[in-house]
Amino acid sequence: MLEQLKDIHRQAVEELDGVADAKALELWRVRYLGKKSSLTGALRSLAALPLEERRDVGARANEIKRDLESRLEEKERFLQQSLLTSPLASQGIDVTLPGRPIPTGRLHPITQTLNEICCVFRNMGFQTIEGPDVEWDYYNFEALNIPQHHPARDRFATLWIDAGAGAKARLLRTHTSPMQIRWMERERPPIRVIAPGRVYRYEATDATHESMFCNVEGLAVDRSITLADLKGTLFEFCRCLFGEERQVRFRCDYFPFVEPGVEVAISCAACDGAGCRVCGYSGWVETAGAGMVHPDVLRRVDIDPQTYSGFAFGVGVERISMLRHGIDDIRLFYSNDLRFLRQF
Ligand code: DAH
Repeated sequence: MLEQLKDIHRQAVEELDGVADAKALELWRVRYLGKKSSLTGALRSLAALPLEERRDVGARANEIKRDLESRLEEKERFLQQSLLTSPLASQGIDVTLPGRPIPTGRLHPITQTLNEICCVFRNMGFQTIEGPDVEWDYYNFEALNIPQHHPARDRFATLWIDAGAGAKARLLRTHTSPMQIRWMERERPPIRVIAPGRVYRYEATDATHESMFCNVEGLAVDRSITLADLKGTLFEFCRCLFGEERQVRFRCDYFPFVEPGVEVAISCAACDGAGCRVCGYSGWVETAGAGMVHPDVLRRVDIDPQTYSGFAFGVGVERISMLRHGIDDIRLFYSNDLRFLRQF
């Protein structure tokens, strides 16, 4: 019996030497340590042996079992290790070399400013909505109290998609104000939304004008909303973006879709109000047009102006970004000069 055990041990050790992968190792384990292995069989048949022999054989069999188990463990470790190192060695990979840097992109400065603006209004309870860049004449003009031949159309040098078809004509929206109408057509007060987006004008470009730029439209409609709510909201907005030191100025202005209308300017951050190129030497930078939603606009979307009132505003995003970063030419944003863009 002892001889037999010795043979099993020798054979097992020999065979283990030749094992080269995890699958073969598992077969080996089943064969020599499994329930049906000859070693387990020998241990099981101990009961039939005379007491003297039982002690010797039992002790030896257990010794062999422990030895094979520890060899199994060692082999397992070895195989795992070589799984990691062998491809590296054979392909000549040096894992200690530093990796190649992966170039990561970044957000465009206007996208960053847009996100910040939306975040400020979101914190004041405004929901963000979006609408089409290609717009109907009806939403861009008619429904905003700017009918055909209204002089206010001159204010918006329009890029037409198909001109001459009245309210059904399509154009590239000249402002984000059409989103006021689109939203009020489907929602009832209380309304608090902002609509960021691109707008287009048929205009020659210069340091302060682009033919495509970004607006954020704001609209709040509810019972007893007053001009004070508009002022409070825009004051808070300017403070959040430019800090406590900036002064905010409200002056009368005219937009057909609001009454009264105002123009909002903040004291120039570049020169602290002294006058510089950024503010056109006036000390103030216009940042928004705003006002109380015109009763006719409310009526057109079936909101009763006797019960409800609202304020609206439109913020120029590039202006804000220029002020925040001291940029004095709007064309830099869209000329794709990486030396400029990489600074943000
Ligand atoms: N849409 C106007 C523009 O682009 C700006 C504006 C003025 C928006 C007054 C408003 C507003 O919502 O109430 O010139």
